[in-house]
Amino acid sequence: DSADLGPYRHYMQKEIFAQPVALADTLAAALKHGFSPALFGSDAHDIFSKTTAIRIVACGSSYHAGLVARYWIEEYTGLPVSVDIASEYRYRSGKEQDGTLIVAISQSGETADLLAALRSAKERGQVHILALCNVAHSTLTREADLVALTHAGIEIGVASTKAFTTQLAALFTLAGSLAHCRQTLDPAALAELANCLPRLPAMFTDIFPLETALEEWAHELSHYNHALFLGRHTLFPIALEGALKLKEIAYIHAEGYAAGELKHGPLALVDEEMPVIVCAANDALFDKLLSNLREVQARGGKIFLIAEPGCEAAFDYCHRTITLPSKTGPLAPIVFTLPLQFLAYHTACRKGTDVDKPRNLAKSVTVE
Ligand code: AGP
Repeated sequence: DSADLGPYRHYMQKEIFAQPVALADTLAAALKHGFSPALFGSDAHDIFSKTTAIRIVACGSSYHAGLVARYWIEEYTGLPVSVDIASEYRYRSGKEQDGTLIVAISQSGETADLLAALRSAKERGQVHILALCNVAHSTLTREADLVALTHAGIEIGVASTKAFTTQLAALFTLAGSLAHCRQTLDPAALAELANCLPRLPAMFTDIFPLETALEEWAHELSHYNHALFLGRHTLFPIALEGALKLKEIAYIHAEGYAAGELKHGPLALVDEEMPVIVCAANDALFDKLLSNLREVQARGGKIFLIAEPGCEAAFDYCHRTITLPSKTGPLAPIVFTLPLQFLAYHTACRKGTDVDKPRNLAKSVTVE
């Protein structure tokens, strides 16, 4: 029913703009009570205290959210974290170390490969399952020991937008709550992380005015058959997610790469026919990223740079640049997702694809 589209052309566009509210709803309990295992259920304190390792399993965008979470959890807790594609994990045979916390991430809670992976995990050792899901009453939440819900609301567009960013927000809360429970960060450091959260919805609203500039980029991008997305650290999985969005809805072949991997292969693809979309944080790795950009520019690659303030040194190497309104800190992967959503969305509109129902794809993949 298009009546509930309001001023939007597609559900995906509506869902992109719903993110400030979806994020605020998802973070409401953490904002009220602070980082705490209690956010994840009454058994969470006991389970988190005894956790020896974390294994994240998921598919598609949810898998990308898991890849981001690995950086946060490792940094804040020191726990070893591995991230697996559910359809691969289910056919591997390794045992799980006792005390492993399996974090199963799924918007729908009905993805067949994910459900099979978590059943398989239970047979591999003494594990607990934490479900991160957008559907309160789903197969996934029923089979889990601990449940964390995202409050994205119903997502109609096949391409995940608000479901993905709310997963990231919930995973950041998980990392903070694990650190709180296990006392792996000093109280000041933990408070600094918690203090980032209230600003997150407004960081999204502040980026909305950049939609017009990204629409212009999209017009240019729609003429290409291929694209590369680059990022480092937590922005590497966001490069993967940006590429997935472009593939899914604009039908443009796109690859996401860790920028440091460029010279190990994909640099051979770079010429004037290869747009390279780069996410740059003004962090300790910025100088490394700069040398990656130099490599791309020297081969004629066209760099479209989305950067935090303070990355101006990169501009000389770029074909187009957009600077985000403010610093993003540890929430960078959540915030950088928004411009990439706009880019994929407007490229798809320009190409005239069926944005909300891209060919060959289903919203929820309930078969293997
Ligand atoms: C994302 O844009 C995709 N539509 C897809 O990768 C999705 O994230 C994947 O199928 C997993 O779905 P789930 O989160 O419902 O398990």
